[in-house]
Amino acid sequence: MMVLETVNLEMDGPVATIFLNRPAKKNAMNPQMHRDMNQVLDTIEEAGNVKAVVVTGIGDSFSAGMDLEECFLQPFDDPQLFYRTNLVALNWFKRLKAFPAVTIAKVNGFAFGGGVLVTGICDLAVTTDTALFGLSEINFGIFPAGGATWAATHNLPRKQALYYILTGDTMTGQQAQEYGLVNKSVPADQLDAETDRIVRKIVKKNPVTLELAKQVYERTTMMDLPTAIDYDQAKLWELSRLSGNEWVNVALKQFEKRAYQPGLTTYSRAEARS
Ligand code: ACO
Repeated sequence: MMVLETVNLEMDGPVATIFLNRPAKKNAMNPQMHRDMNQVLDTIEEAGNVKAVVVTGIGDSFSAGMDLEECFLQPFDDPQLFYRTNLVALNWFKRLKAFPAVTIAKVNGFAFGGGVLVTGICDLAVTTDTALFGLSEINFGIFPAGGATWAATHNLPRKQALYYILTGDTMTGQQAQEYGLVNKSVPADQLDAETDRIVRKIVKKNPVTLELAKQVYERTTMMDLPTAIDYDQAKLWELSRLSGNEWVNVALKQFEKRAYQPGLTTYSRAEARS
């Protein structure tokens, strides 16, 4: 376990778990937490073998968003300080969105502002039925920024995104599932098990395939179909080369022997290179 001032990192082979750790402040993200997040993302990337990154909070909160005092109120009168303080945050939000491993938000309680943003930029998200999500920015006079409006528009239907942006109302974990902000909402005592269930599936896959699958998803959302097909074909050849043709030489050979049914489960990577 790597223990920083405001964030803990647990590395367990292909799984990294990041714990936001300011429970007395509902895991509000202060400047130190933004620096710590950049550091743990460095550590995970340098490890090179991580396939799944789980982000969660210690205590009863995922994150109450940006620390309104330390990030906004206190540095506001010094434009340079305000800019630099918040740049550290914006940098790790962008990094998390483009992270090579699969990112999973395990939303264990309150998620406001930046907490919704982190939920939205993770690839997958799981929460509890009683968790509370809110874009509370309008309640203190601004619109969701730093990527929070982007996270809302890319994870919620238009009317719901605008409703929560404009009213600042909260939604429960169950509503978050209904609208698509999270994959699944479960009773609180099942959050660990549900997250582990997803993580166990991810770690069985080839890491190169996971990384390129994310790239193809993200890039092709901005393409027309012919361009997307050309792009994904090029990426498929890249995948084949980078993985030593594992999909043909290992996966499809196992199918040829009827060792498994790809419609229902994944191939065994025991005989694969990495
Ligand atoms: N920034 C700074 N401090 C915070 C934040 C925050 N975002 N959220 C909570 N805290 C502090 C509280 O002020 C309190 O501090 P104190 O003990 O020094 O008084 C402590 O954390 C505990 O919070 P409580 O309000 O006592 O906890 P409660 O369970 O009653 O309420 C809730 C939790 C609903 C999350 C409430 O704290 C709240 O509304 N927080 C602000 C949420 C918010 O609007 N975040 C900003 C989003 S916008 C953005 O991220 C850009």
